[in-house]
Amino acid sequence: MTKHTGLSLLALTLLTLAHPTIEASPNESDSRYILTDVLLARKMKLEAVASDVPTGTVLVKVTESQRAELAEKAHDLKRCGGHELIQILPSSATVAEAREFAQKTFRTFGEQSKKDIAYANQVKTKAGIGLPTTPSTPNPRIAQAISEVTETNLKDTVDFLSKYSTRNHKTTEAKSAILAFKTRIEETLKGATIPYTIDFVSHSSTPMNSIRLTFIGAKTPGEVVVAGGHIDSINQSYFGSKLAPGSDDNASGSANILEAARILSRGPQPARTIEFYWYAGEEGGLLGSAEIAESAKKAGKKVIGVLQLDMTLFPGDGEFKLGSMTDFTSLEMRDLLSQINRDYLNVTIVEDKCGYGCSDHASWYRNGYPTLMPFEATMNKMNGNIHTDKDIVSASSSFRHSAMFSKIAVAFLMILAE
Ligand code: BES
Ligand code: ZN
Repeated sequence: MTKHTGLSLLALTLLTLAHPTIEASPNESDSRYILTDVLLARKMKLEAVASDVPTGTVLVKVTESQRAELAEKAHDLKRCGGHELIQILPSSATVAEAREFAQKTFRTFGEQSKKDIAYANQVKTKAGIGLPTTPSTPNPRIAQAISEVTETNLKDTVDFLSKYSTRNHKTTEAKSAILAFKTRIEETLKGATIPYTIDFVSHSSTPMNSIRLTFIGAKTPGEVVVAGGHIDSINQSYFGSKLAPGSDDNASGSANILEAARILSRGPQPARTIEFYWYAGEEGGLLGSAEIAESAKKAGKKVIGVLQLDMTLFPGDGEFKLGSMTDFTSLEMRDLLSQINRDYLNVTIVEDKCGYGCSDHASWYRNGYPTLMPFEATMNKMNGNIHTDKDIVSASSSFRHSAMFSKIAVAFLMILAE
């Protein structure tokens, strides 16, 4: 795993250029269409079947071996690998179907930007000056709930998940981990005073299941607020140990979500429904969340906001200095984070970019939903040990820092589910 540096100036320039060059056209029978990053497509000299200039996304056709090569090229671009496949289409998809899918996705990206602009204009009109968030007063009920976040609970859950040799989505160890984790959720919710359900969500793109915990809304159960993080882990080292404790990436976010659920389960029942997710197969290419978000869209589900917690344990920029990703997230949700910070947390939040769909929020964003992804640090200072056997709880971990993310989750859910 190399450090993520985001897109360079050169990369940004390239993004604004037209179609990638046409040189290789795969004709093996196993080739299929994928949505990917224009820079990677260029590196591979792949022909773009369709392209979206503002987001630098292209539709290309690749063979299995080209897909593997894409993953390697992604490393050269200082990304972790795997993520280059923004979306893999079913092998049966025809060029017309693939094009239609791509155009639909590009349209959604366009609509998301329009929503940001509309929101910015609306806030500007209200405030009359630039873009401060709408004034608010702290709610004592939210402040109280936030104060209930307990660091030792977070540590216990991170230790619990990290003790599995791997949570790689293709392994039986991952199956044991999610089975045990579901039981852990059930035990944690023994003191619940509100109605809830817990279930596994099975997938066609990964043998691993996601876990979903639902708090049913008292007034408008059809309106849903989502908080989640991926529970799988991966070891991408070429040599040596294949252990994947994934303490930071992402036992930490998984623990944050459980802690928020524990606190909110003590009531009162929210007006809207809250769904908590522990996603499967994120490290394999956002697999679980892609299916979940797509089926939510197909079902016409009204999702008010989606919070993604992925890596919260390593304070690379110092304790209480948080990053907040601006790509594949929504301006309105980022403003809500500023409001939460001003009213309850008082930490430093620095906006940054992954430069690609780096976690499950991108799945929801691609399907038209508003998303937010606060992060442990800025990209330059992120944990360099992720995706190795060294992603463990150590002297450089901070549960005090990580606790901030459960607090964010508690406030985010309480505000949006009202
Ligand atoms: N936690 C990482 C994403 C991340 C890494 C965010 C560094 C911010 C900074 C996530 O688990 C991950 O590894 N994502 C993949 C992409 C995915 C589509 C396979 C990655 O970054 O390679
Ligand atoms: Zn990862």
